[in-house]
Amino acid sequence: MNEKLIIRGGKPLHGEVKVGGAKNAAVAVLPACILSDGVCVIDNLPDINDVSVLKRTLENLGAKIEQPNKHSLKIDCTTIDTATADFDIVRHVRASYYLLGALMSRFDVVKVMLPGGCAIGERPIDQHIKGFTAMGATVITEYGMLKATVPEGCLHGADIYLDCVSVGATINIMLAAVKANGVTTLVNAAKEPHVVDVANMLRMMGAKISGAGTDIIRIRGVEKLSGINYSIIPDQIETGTLMVAAAGTKGDVTITNVIPTHMEALSAKLMEMGIHIEEGESTIRVWADGHYKAAHIKTMPYPGFPTDLQQPVTVLLSVADGTSLIEENMFESRFKHINEIRRMGANVTINGRVAVVEGVEKLTGAPVRATDLRAGAALVIAGLMADGITEIDNVKYIDRGYDHIEEKFISLGADITRKEFPMTDDENDFDTFA
Ligand code: EPZ
Repeated sequence: MNEKLIIRGGKPLHGEVKVGGAKNAAVAVLPACILSDGVCVIDNLPDINDVSVLKRTLENLGAKIEQPNKHSLKIDCTTIDTATADFDIVRHVRASYYLLGALMSRFDVVKVMLPGGCAIGERPIDQHIKGFTAMGATVITEYGMLKATVPEGCLHGADIYLDCVSVGATINIMLAAVKANGVTTLVNAAKEPHVVDVANMLRMMGAKISGAGTDIIRIRGVEKLSGINYSIIPDQIETGTLMVAAAGTKGDVTITNVIPTHMEALSAKLMEMGIHIEEGESTIRVWADGHYKAAHIKTMPYPGFPTDLQQPVTVLLSVADGTSLIEENMFESRFKHINEIRRMGANVTINGRVAVVEGVEKLTGAPVRATDLRAGAALVIAGLMADGITEIDNVKYIDRGYDHIEEKFISLGADITRKEFPMTDDENDFDTFA
């Protein structure tokens, strides 16, 4: 069966909502448990498909996992007895490549199925391989698998300069380096909140890491890492999605359990547009009472404007006063949502990595289709803002990264229902991971 979200738009969102744990931290923290010589209890996990796929993958490798509740896992990876992750589910989660970085600390030969195609761009992993190779591993691609061989039985420290700022490569090299022989210096490292979260978890386990959150991370390898109890950070992108929805529906919403400093790029942009933001210790209140101005968005690595919020903000700008410019500098084809919002009346012209958005009076509901995770979230926001009914197909993409997205919006007054429909034969599998 296929699920769709049916949204009756035009209702301003009001009230208070708590943000969940960060998807992009969770999908790295779970493989990081492989490095522990004890038991790890991970809390504040989002209840999303990517987490359940990684849980099943760790179990298939031999880990013992208990689930006391839907937001916690008790994980013992000391029982892992294979280093070949060739299960079909692996290719549906891009972050499965973190298994490579973690398993190399325990096995001489590690194989992980390559992630599948992606709707937002080519997403190479050459920087991951550059780091592993510098540390003494041989990495090849064979039979659709990434195969890493550690000749001397243990990786050694290295000086690694990333040719581009990469969240995945930064985290994966950190995972490989924490038990390597010697010191690894990673230059041009990513600084996203979830990079820092993984580093904090590893340090709690006994890893020697300094500089996480800056351009240069230094890691001194250690022999053993203990088990820990760890609660992951709030989701920066879910927080941003809720902020944009509050503004777009001209509502008044307070989001709790947030880290306001993680939201600075978006908060600053929304205030520039004339939308009201009020920050508390762990809350952000967003309200918009009238029209808001157009803006110029340039997606950049953190602390720049997050590429994952580009698609939701495009929808917000589609009814702003004036002409907006959106430069997507991180991925070469992250505008697939634009065809869908055009069906709702948006007036957007795409020229390579730049979208020119002419603000229109309003959006109108229409049947649309999610092409990837954040495009799907953008369509939900568009449906909440639009006059009339919007039907969103391919909700499975949204469920990969949002914990029951409709429930949070319903708690804020939205009219959304999730319905099951028979699969249609033109179902295209746009994006196999987020
Ligand atoms: C992570 O992807 C996130 N996914 C993405 O979120 C996010 O958009 C991205 O970081 C940027 O913030 C997870 O954390 C699971 P990158 P990742 O490596 O690690 C190029 C979502 O919606 N690059 O930082 O794959 C790459 O092509 C998802 O939650 C190389 O050239 O992103 C891109 O242009 C979508 N070679 C840029 O770097 C490499 O080896 C940034 O990619 C690696 C990356």
